[in-house]
Amino acid sequence: MAVDLLLGLQWGDEGKGKIVDVLTSNYNIIARFQGGPNAGHTLVFNGMKHVLHTIPSGIFHDSAKNLVGNGVVIDPVIFKKELDKLEDQKVDYRKSLLISRKAHLILPTHRLLDAASETSKGKAKIGSTLKGIGPTYMDKTGRNGIRVGDLEMTNWKEKYRALANKHEAMIDFYDVNIQYQLKELEAEFFAAVDVLKSLTFIDSEEYIYQAQKSGQTILAEGAQGSLLDIDFGTYPFVTSSNTTAAGACTGLGVAPNQIGEVFGIFKAYTTRVGSGPFPTELFDEAGETMGRIGQEFGATTGRSRRCGWLDLVALKYACQINGVTQLMMMKADVLSGFKSLKVCTAYDYKGDIISHLPYNIEAENVTPIYSDFKGWKEDLTQMDDYGQLPKELNDYIDFLEKELEIPIKIVSVGPDRKQTIFR
Ligand code: IMP
Repeated sequence: MAVDLLLGLQWGDEGKGKIVDVLTSNYNIIARFQGGPNAGHTLVFNGMKHVLHTIPSGIFHDSAKNLVGNGVVIDPVIFKKELDKLEDQKVDYRKSLLISRKAHLILPTHRLLDAASETSKGKAKIGSTLKGIGPTYMDKTGRNGIRVGDLEMTNWKEKYRALANKHEAMIDFYDVNIQYQLKELEAEFFAAVDVLKSLTFIDSEEYIYQAQKSGQTILAEGAQGSLLDIDFGTYPFVTSSNTTAAGACTGLGVAPNQIGEVFGIFKAYTTRVGSGPFPTELFDEAGETMGRIGQEFGATTGRSRRCGWLDLVALKYACQINGVTQLMMMKADVLSGFKSLKVCTAYDYKGDIISHLPYNIEAENVTPIYSDFKGWKEDLTQMDDYGQLPKELNDYIDFLEKELEIPIKIVSVGPDRKQTIFR
């Protein structure tokens, strides 16, 4: 069986967690392929809200195995907190949660390095979640990292010490005032590593291969969004992994010709958290309304998200890079009550009208060109059938489908599992 992918097409926070949870009953295995605890995947069902950072979003279904793939970076301390919350909710994760031996570990000093690097950048900071993501992927590509499989070796603590010492020297090099008590951080880290070691570590690429061969269905779960991709995002204001479809191949060991459906998720408008260019960003009441109604606050950091109109130039680019086969539009309900809506269909790029994403989309180079749409008044949050959607929303959807040449198969009208309309 081919492996289906689900990924975000904007700057993250599109609602991937909710849709993975909704789709999990169709799959035997849910596999996270990149990122780490910088992600915050929010699921709402039975009146409860759950936020997952590293653990795949299929964990609340008994029927599915949940794999943390080799492309993921794991902070044992945050991972343990996630497990504690699952235990509180009586989720029996021990049999269903599997961890790739090749996933890399985020050490306490990676987090400190992230803070030192961001502080040293001053105004040019990335706006990182400060979870140690960048420094951990740097150690991975620099061939210095510590992997989950190392925890099964007797000498891993020696490796740890050497790396942590090196990190301390690097923190000094940044010459910024970072206060920390490494002993305390390490005590917490080593206790959390012991918990991690009680879970099932596997050779995940072999597991995925055999699962595929025996006809099991697999959904690869992305984190962050395509515009935060290390290669194709708005560099340097990006995360440190490949958030796009190719990341599922390297982050799980799935061959490119084994990819099936590519589900692309986008919000009916756009948000971004952290620094970096955002051509359709709004600084007026409309943006404020989106943020308030959409509760646009980071699930990991609590920071306010920047809000703006839908950017079709960027969305088309993301569909192209990922080979999206089906679209899912999230948070349509947030736009109820807007008299009119705008969609950016092209950029004025240094005087030329272009419809592709250029190298630099900083405000001094790019002015968005908009098409206007009539808004709708109806509250969508209680609707459960496509036939109930207002005409103006259908016009909006039809326009997007025509422009993107990909069907929109799901319209989400609220955070709850049930507030999902299939088309
Ligand atoms: P980092 O990956 O934590 O270093 O953050 C790099 C950039 O990606 C920052 O602008 C973050 O705000 C953004 N980012 C990282 N993870 C997420 C996410 O899950 N959702 C939205 N933005 C994210």
